[in-house]
Amino acid sequence: MSISEDFYLKRRSVMAKKMSPEPIKESVLNQIIQAGIRVPDHGALNPWKLAIIQGKQRAIIDKEIIFKEYIKKNPNSDKYFHEIESKRLQRAGAVIAVISTPVDHPSIPLWEMQLSSGAVCMNLLSCAQSLGYAAQWLTEWYSYNDTMLTYLGGRVGIDKISGFIYIGHKTEEPKERKRPNPADVINYL
Ligand SMILES: Cc1cc2nc3c(=O)[nH]c(=O)nc-3n(C[C@H](O)[C@H](O)[C@H](O)COP(=O)(O)O)c2cc1C
Repeated sequence: MSISEDFYLKRRSVMAKKMSPEPIKESVLNQIIQAGIRVPDHGALNPWKLAIIQGKQRAIIDKEIIFKEYIKKNPNSDKYFHEIESKRLQRAGAVIAVISTPVDHPSIPLWEMQLSSGAVCMNLLSCAQSLGYAAQWLTEWYSYNDTMLTYLGGRVGIDKISGFIYIGHKTEEPKERKRPNPADVINYL
């Protein structure tokens, strides 16, 4: 057996700004979500939650949360940034917010619960890309915003946004990006 040359050895994200934002078919999105949440999770605690953002919700969150929060923190910003900050989520057909929601546990460390949430992000990303969709894992500034966290159902001071998985349609194949030199990051003991 060998790793699929067509997928894992060539997998590549497509920048949100380069994807096309038509809706993602419900059956496809469900498949991505169902496969995406099959991740290693010590103790089966499910220490993460997903918020699915699509259709009109994208523009609502862009206007009511992202743009408003941006203006609050950058009252003197110009039109160029207003354009960007008022359309963040509308770059994709669907955006899946992954929230790390750790629980108190006598032996399983917080770190492992947070790692599992990262695994959900990566799994969603790979699933979407394996089906031929354009997808990118983004945090940008609003992942660290408490109003956004609260809107998504997270608990301030406990939960964290692991990322937003943007899913759209490809308009062109992405170019390869610089990859690590194996010798720099791998040590065979
Ligand atoms: C947790 C996390 C957050 C990220 N946030 C951003 C971001 O805010 N902006 C950005 O340009 N790239 C961000 N990236 C990077 C891209 O999603 C991605 O790593 C890059 O485009 C190459 O991905 P690929 O290896 O799938 O081709 C983030 C990556 C991770 C793991």
